Amino acid sequence: MEPLKRIPSPLQEKWLNKIHQGDCIEVMKQMPEKSVDLIVTSPPYNLRNSTGGGMRNGSGGLWENAALLKGYAGDYSDDIPYPQYVAWQRACLTAMMRVLKDDGAIFYNHKWRVQDGLLQDRREIVEGFPVRQIIIWQRAGGINFNLSYFLPTYEVIYLISNKKFRLAKSNDPTATCGIGDIWRMNQDTGNEHPAPFPVELPMRCIESTNATLVLDPFMGSGTTAIAAEMLGRNWIGIEISKHYCDSANKRIANWRANGAENLPRSPNCNQSNQPLTAVQRMREGAYHTHAARVATTTGRIRRTIASLHKKGKRPTKSYVARRIGVSREHLTRKYGRLFEL
Ligand SMILES: C[S@@+](CC[C@H](N)C(=O)[O-])C[C@H]1O[C@@H](n2cnc3c(N)ncnc32)[C@H](O)[C@@H]1O
Repeated sequence: MEPLKRIPSPLQEKWLNKIHQGDCIEVMKQMPEKSVDLIVTSPPYNLRNSTGGGMRNGSGGLWENAALLKGYAGDYSDDIPYPQYVAWQRACLTAMMRVLKDDGAIFYNHKWRVQDGLLQDRREIVEGFPVRQIIIWQRAGGINFNLSYFLPTYEVIYLISNKKFRLAKSNDPTATCGIGDIWRMNQDTGNEHPAPFPVELPMRCIESTNATLVLDPFMGSGTTAIAAEMLGRNWIGIEISKHYCDSANKRIANWRANGAENLPRSPNCNQSNQPLTAVQRMREGAYHTHAARVATTTGRIRRTIASLHKKGKRPTKSYVARRIGVSREHLTRKYGRLFEL
């Protein structure tokens, strides 16, 4: 694969575009302060200490098919006393804030749940951190039917940002801030990790910003790395489990070799056949998704990109070059063909 666009950074060789195995707090301590533009992450939710169903006693109960029933691979059990879990997550957020630049932000994905009949909205974790917005990730419902409450069908993404953080400037505000704060995306399928997010989720976070360096301290199956590479941005991953480091590295190598990842869908795609918001309707009318595979002159497919374009327009060579992180001249010389999908 062609080298990604490098940025001057003290982190460069040692850190960039790699997964570092270890405890994220310990690893972040070794990173210089104010060194990353953006953090996109989803921590373990501590779901196995739930008060209801079989997640707690291991029998399964309503959760018998839940992939997380056995916890994560390695030593992490996802079942620690709640106060300890809150303290740990706050320490993780503190470590993230230290390495974040003054104009940086954290997209922190979490899940609210009902415990002992009351909503646990995780506010103890984020209290005191600069939460600017809560984004709803509307996903398909799970299987935890319970007559005490309606089936949960969303997770949240806390946008925790330093004061100077701004979304990317664009002539088309519907491509960034106009997307709105409810994001409809289905869960990932076919991933052996028990709790991955779909690649379009970190893509949406990254693409809405000008970040050139993205950190995921709970890298899991490598989804944030794939999203960053799809967008030609640098990334740093941290993951405690050797098993997940190995499988994420394989997934990333596979992506680099032949772009075999599932294509990300457009931000406006309506997968759930539910009514679109006004902004989404506007976008559906005016834009369409262009997906292209970029091949080398020998025909070997190297990268797959997807983007939104005004109807009737195709991406220019400069745009494609920017998206895959090479110069226009390099694109002409090395990447001879564009395959439309
Ligand atoms: C919810 S998953 C992240 C999934 C990821 N977003 C994906 O798409 O695959 C949380 C991950 O955090 C890892 N983890 C648990 N404790 C950790 C720690 N102290 N430091 C780093 N990673 C940790 C777990 O092994 C698990 O893979």
